[in-house]
Amino acid sequence: MSSDATPRPLRALPGPALSGHARVPGDKSISHRALLLGGVASGETNVEGLLEGEDVLRTADAMRALGARVERLGEGSWQVQGAGVGALLEPEGPLDFGNAGTGVRLMMGLAAGHGLTVSYVGDASLSRRPMGRILDPLKQMGARLVAVTGQDRLPLTLAGPPDTIPIRYTLPVASAQVKSAVLLAGLTCPGETTVIEPEATRDHTERMLAHFGAGLDVTQDERGARNITLKGPVELQGRDISVPADPSSAAFPLVAGLLVPGSQLRLDAVMVNETRAGLLTTLEEMGADITRENARDVGGEPVCDLLVRASSLTGVEVPPQRAPSMIDEYPVLAVAAAFAQGKTVMRGLHELRVKESDRLAAVVTGLEANGVSCEAGEDHLVVHGGSGVPGGGIVATHLDHRIAMAFLVMGLAADAPVSVDDAAMIQTSFPGFTGLMASLGARFEDVAAAEAVR
Ligand code: S3P
Repeated sequence: MSSDATPRPLRALPGPALSGHARVPGDKSISHRALLLGGVASGETNVEGLLEGEDVLRTADAMRALGARVERLGEGSWQVQGAGVGALLEPEGPLDFGNAGTGVRLMMGLAAGHGLTVSYVGDASLSRRPMGRILDPLKQMGARLVAVTGQDRLPLTLAGPPDTIPIRYTLPVASAQVKSAVLLAGLTCPGETTVIEPEATRDHTERMLAHFGAGLDVTQDERGARNITLKGPVELQGRDISVPADPSSAAFPLVAGLLVPGSQLRLDAVMVNETRAGLLTTLEEMGADITRENARDVGGEPVCDLLVRASSLTGVEVPPQRAPSMIDEYPVLAVAAAFAQGKTVMRGLHELRVKESDRLAAVVTGLEANGVSCEAGEDHLVVHGGSGVPGGGIVATHLDHRIAMAFLVMGLAADAPVSVDDAAMIQTSFPGFTGLMASLGARFEDVAAAEAVR
């Protein structure tokens, strides 16, 4: 999906209780990694439940351009014939990652480690996002920036070194994308590549590398930081992968179920890996009635079914250390906080400034447009809830899928409908969002069509 896709304004209408059950699409982080690792492994990788969102489809195209065979067999069912570690080819043209930060950043690591020279492009949102955090460690590993826009923005061309240098790298920001890019660059490199993460971030790359047969050593040092060491060069063997439902997508029907009075719904097979479960913990602290049922393991990840009942929420202080485990969920948490009694304080939010949009700014504008009082600083947000959510606003989404979905959820429970200026970008991570929500009873209206009728 790119910024020139036609914007699709959409309005969410306050409505009846939500009920029923649904399974949200596969996890985006795991889907990207399944294609990247499957594409570089030897032999066949079969993936079930792959997220067929725009972001992941860009990664599939990119792996094809590097020589992997990537085929869709049926809905969510994909087969990858990997090229083998060290055997990826230089692509003929630039790789276009659209809106996908994870895809482009992980690919930079993988391709640079293979000594390839690759040009990367993206849409207007991705072209505003900082790439220096990836380029810095990759340069230490021997990569060279051949062309770049500004200091560190797309489009850029990165040349991998003939021999990748193993490094010990302490993450300056809590970012699973940076950690993963360094580990993927380390696949080809003889010796030990170590990433030290002072704050734990999502660990899907480590889990999946081990699943594909990589020797990985994870320890905790005396300061509590995780040290992840990959001993290269690594041989990866194609494997079967089952992708669990994405907790970052489940967050939207989950919060809707809590906010719309009388609702009761079940969300099936949601991944509850603790590096991703910060929103659940926070909502439970706010008094949410969520029951975790049928805890089990899917593809090496803990999952369960979530039974959600409409609840009266109370504002809380969210500890900043929790931010990495719920970094994508703050927009929808802010919406939940608008309906909670009292104030909700969220700190440690600086990374929200560099997501698909400046999410902190977008959330503040969206809350204010709908009559919710809040304050924000560079790194924090305070939402004053409890005095009703008038709604009635039009929210600017800035090419950001999660801003769109969060405020559509607000509209289902506010006093008046809430509109977003563009719902097209939801395709990047949650294809079928409106259909799934409608199957639970949510009501949406296409703004352009509704205006034409009036
Ligand atoms: C992701 C990591 C997070 C997250 C993104 C997906 C991943 O980004 O926001 O949606 O799959 O590694 P950061 O690594 O920048 O925190």
